[in-house]
Amino acid sequence: MASKSRSKRKHSAATKPANPKPAAEPIAAVAAEKTAESEVVIETRNLSKVYRDFWGRQKVQALKSLDLEVRKGEIFGLLGPNGSGKTTTIKLLLGLLFPTSGEALVFGTDASDVAKNERIGYLPEESYLYKFLNAEETLDFYGRLFKMSGVERRRRTAELIDKVGLRWARRRPLKEYSKGMTRRIGLAQALINDPDLILLDEPTTGLDPIGIREMKDMLVALRDQGKTLVMCSHLLADVQDVCDRIAILHQGELKELGRVDTLLQLSGETELRIANLSDEAQQEIKAVIERDGAKLISSKNPTTTLEDLFLEIVRDSEARPGRRAKGKST
Ligand SMILES: Nc1ncnc2c1ncn2[C@@H]1O[C@H](COP(=O)(O)OP(=O)(O)OP(=O)(O)O)[C@@H](O)[C@H]1O
Ligand SMILES: [Mg+2]
Repeated sequence: MASKSRSKRKHSAATKPANPKPAAEPIAAVAAEKTAESEVVIETRNLSKVYRDFWGRQKVQALKSLDLEVRKGEIFGLLGPNGSGKTTTIKLLLGLLFPTSGEALVFGTDASDVAKNERIGYLPEESYLYKFLNAEETLDFYGRLFKMSGVERRRRTAELIDKVGLRWARRRPLKEYSKGMTRRIGLAQALINDPDLILLDEPTTGLDPIGIREMKDMLVALRDQGKTLVMCSHLLADVQDVCDRIAILHQGELKELGRVDTLLQLSGETELRIANLSDEAQQEIKAVIERDGAKLISSKNPTTTLEDLFLEIVRDSEARPGRRAKGKST
């Protein structure tokens, strides 16, 4: 039986990433981890961006006085409707844009100092890769830009192509790649320099459900290696699955900031999930709830997610090709 108590949505900014910690650790290790947890990787203060037209007239205020902190070893989600300033924030962090006012620090250095980008991996919203190179040539090209040796480039290229599941298509030019395959090679390119900070603009766009699950697993694995990740996404279920903390932007303004689990908590409700409960026991539980003056909100068989059902069917089909026996709902 699992019991889960929730408390009303809290508007507190979160303080700690959600890395699981083993039960018993030497004090020195705990202290070291605490220091690592509080290490600020990104800090923005009053960060604002106004896009101007050709004549220097204000066109759009894309970002308004953004104050953010992202710490080492967390996955931080930037959410918001179209045009809310997510991509602008990422470009400011990379030094691709200059702020109109305020400042952004990455690894304690001003974001306009592009030398710090050697420790950053970036998956942009739109692919900008060379269409006539294949996957191996693409990664080799970027490895050269980071001045990696030939041996290291070959090792890293093979490792990343395997990691993103493109071994079978590694010699095909990128112009023949599907949207999802392009996203995968984009991620491999972003990781070529083994970056400490990875900025991902809509990483799951264009991926099929298996690709989405693989991408999410890769992001969590990178976080578990101590990398820091910032991702923008519209796919809220993906954000909920992988992000430790989120910021919600609207029309360039920060509207909410905090730990995902804290923000989603509901107050005054208790959830029980029980296996093999007899009808009599169910009646007794209902009677206890009534006696207690509490209110039973719902009592039903829980459902799985469509993502889990889809993955189960595809994996089952891979293991046993052929026509699948129809499910329960037909
Ligand atoms: N180069 C530009 N010139 C003028 N305005 C721009 C430019 N780039 C972005 N904007 C404007 O800045 C605002 C924020 O855009 P941004 O691309 O940061 O949004 P976003 O949150 O990433 O949106 P989406 O979810 O659609 O990717 C929008 O109003 C957009 O039109
Ligand atoms: Mg964007």
